[in-house]
Amino acid sequence: MLWIKSFHVFFVVTWFAGLFYLPRLFVYHALTDDNTGSERFKVMQRKLYYGIMTPSAVLALALGSWLWLGYGFSGNWLHAKLLLTLVLIAYHIWCGKILLDFKLDRNKKTHTWYRWFNEFPVLILLSVVILVVVKPF
Ligand code: HEM
Repeated sequence: MLWIKSFHVFFVVTWFAGLFYLPRLFVYHALTDDNTGSERFKVMQRKLYYGIMTPSAVLALALGSWLWLGYGFSGNWLHAKLLLTLVLIAYHIWCGKILLDFKLDRNKKTHTWYRWFNEFPVLILLSVVILVVVKPF
């Protein structure tokens, strides 16, 4: 089980690398008004989302589910964690829609909006780590 948990935590970390970096790219892309820069951001965003973020999410969730269902973990902490994980999956999918908006040059949101959007995963990560390590309820 410890090997599964090790890789679960590893892919959670690589997933969050994308969840923190992709919205930061959206901030700078929203500030960009030259075409060369915009095309460069599109490539970086696509490679990050499909090459790192999404495979990491799938593996983190699969290994977490293996721990949960394979080793009989239960408790309100896990229910709260699963709820926050659903919110995180929705945020991930929203990033995919924003990526498409930038790809099709139809982004309307400002860099300030993306700076606030960028902070949201921090709150989820802190809450989930406290839930799974402390198990407060
Ligand atoms: C389908 C979603 C997920 C499921 C079913 C799941 C399930 C689990 C289970 C059963 C454990 C073992 C707990 C223990 O040994 O006490 C665990 C460990 C852990 N999970 Fe998840 N997890 C999921 C998603 C996540 C997410 C999204 C994060 C981060 C935001 C996360 C972070 C962690 C951490 C840091 C540990 C190690 C805790 C420790 O060693 O004490 N997990 N997970």
